[in-house]
Amino acid sequence: MNVTCNTTFLNFDPKLPNITIFATGGTIAGNGSSNTNYTSGVFSVEDLIYAVPSIKNISNVVGDQVSNVGSEDVNSTILLDLSKKINQCVCEDDAMSGAVVTHGTDTLEETAFFLDATLNCSKPVVIVGAMRPASAISADGPYNLIESVTVAVSKDARNRGALVVMNDRIVSTYYVTKTNANTMDTFKAVEMGNVGQVIGGTPYFFFPPTLPTGRSTYNISEINSIPRVDILYSYQDMQNETIYDTVNRGAKGIVIAGAGAGGVSTRFNDAIEDVVNNYSIPVVQSFRTGSGEVPYAEIASTSSTHIASGYLNPQKSRILLGLLLAEKKSLTEIAGAFAKGTAG
Ligand code: SIN
Repeated sequence: MNVTCNTTFLNFDPKLPNITIFATGGTIAGNGSSNTNYTSGVFSVEDLIYAVPSIKNISNVVGDQVSNVGSEDVNSTILLDLSKKINQCVCEDDAMSGAVVTHGTDTLEETAFFLDATLNCSKPVVIVGAMRPASAISADGPYNLIESVTVAVSKDARNRGALVVMNDRIVSTYYVTKTNANTMDTFKAVEMGNVGQVIGGTPYFFFPPTLPTGRSTYNISEINSIPRVDILYSYQDMQNETIYDTVNRGAKGIVIAGAGAGGVSTRFNDAIEDVVNNYSIPVVQSFRTGSGEVPYAEIASTSSTHIASGYLNPQKSRILLGLLLAEKKSLTEIAGAFAKGTAG
């Protein structure tokens, strides 16, 4: 794919650093009166930037409208396009200090995880959303946006992987998840905590730069599609047909949102082993609990075909499995990539 970089600055002061704000849509660009009554992805990237005039005191800004959709409609085509753009237009351009991505919050963690895994970048890349639409009373988008720009130009934010900045918190994209459907303090890394905070307009990091233990990066420059990976939710009386239906409909990989630490029934466990051994489709067992860890030992039984998701929830496991399949990794290599993020 040919990447075209927008190079038009909306403001320019040679003394300031340069960033690009890539807009994808979501509530942060939404029009309506509250977080239950609005339309996502209405305002343009220029609208979002001009709504926060003080940005021009912090950074010179290029705006790039990648999409303008609710985040449920973000797909792997948009993800590949966005990642290639950030790699070429920010990571590989010495004139640029960092990037901000505005995004709907519902699937923000999936895009954030994808970018973190596919950017070849020591520069800050910050993903931000809002829980209240841009036109609501006390909209949180403008505040989150200025804090994101502040982090994106901070030298202290380098070499930490991509970061989510929302509600004054700076959180690792590898671990962050949306924990509440409605409230503004929704983005958390439940066990790991925040990497920093924005206080009075200044980012403060609790630790020197560090990267998540399980994190790996992948080169997608030659990849134009991501194989289909489906998620199945585990529950009492789950029928084996669900996994065979998924296989028959074309899934190339499967993630199970298992009960507790990846659990499925004895009968369903047999179906998983059949699908892995006889259809060569990798199955990753994750958790439906919202937080926690699936250790390899918990699900291994007698077969080496089981893959534990470690600290990756089902939606992040799906993104990682898709990337590994896109790179045509073997089952052993896929198991190895997930094993980096498990306690064993
Ligand atoms: C969306 O994810 O696009 C809608 C919800 C939000 O942005 O908070």
